[in-house]
Amino acid sequence: MAHQPSPVTALYPGSFDPITNGHLDLIRRSSVLFDKLIVSVLDNQAKQPLFSVSERMEMLGDAVRRFDNVEVDSFNGLLVEYAAARGARVIVRGIRAISDYEFELQMTHMNRRLRPGIETVFLMATEAYSFVSSRLVKEVFRLGGDISGLVPPMVESRLRSRFEENPRHT
Ligand code: PNS
Repeated sequence: MAHQPSPVTALYPGSFDPITNGHLDLIRRSSVLFDKLIVSVLDNQAKQPLFSVSERMEMLGDAVRRFDNVEVDSFNGLLVEYAAARGARVIVRGIRAISDYEFELQMTHMNRRLRPGIETVFLMATEAYSFVSSRLVKEVFRLGGDISGLVPPMVESRLRSRFEENPRHT
């Protein structure tokens, strides 16, 4: 009988404050590679996010609605423990430039030490999004620059409302 490979669940963790079209591109490409993809927002009290975890999950949920095998979740604590608890054998991360590489390399080695059975897989960012980050998008938007095409339209309107509520947000 032919060998039937078992379904692979992958986990795409991040801050997603907010989701950008770069993230979305990675989600689309990963959803084709893996049977199931869990996109999970880090619930980290230490960072001062612009959007709450539930707001970020809402935006993600809206953006990934068209993908049948993609689920949105949140987590805290160790990433690899959460991955194991969710049955994910693969962690997906994106690399935009060499500057991303060093941090990702450290995390990968640490995560492998903690849980050798979980593999980290890197996808190179699509050229058009290789300069896009949540941090820069927020900064450019706050300073009145054009971010159309860099985030889903719904995220742009959320940013508008957030900065109208409190223009001093960074
Ligand atoms: O989008 P980000 O901010 O680059 O994502 C970073 C993230 C969430 C992947 C990383 O901070 C993380 O995994 N945090 C969970 C805590 C943890 O497991 N730390 C040890 C990693 S080696």
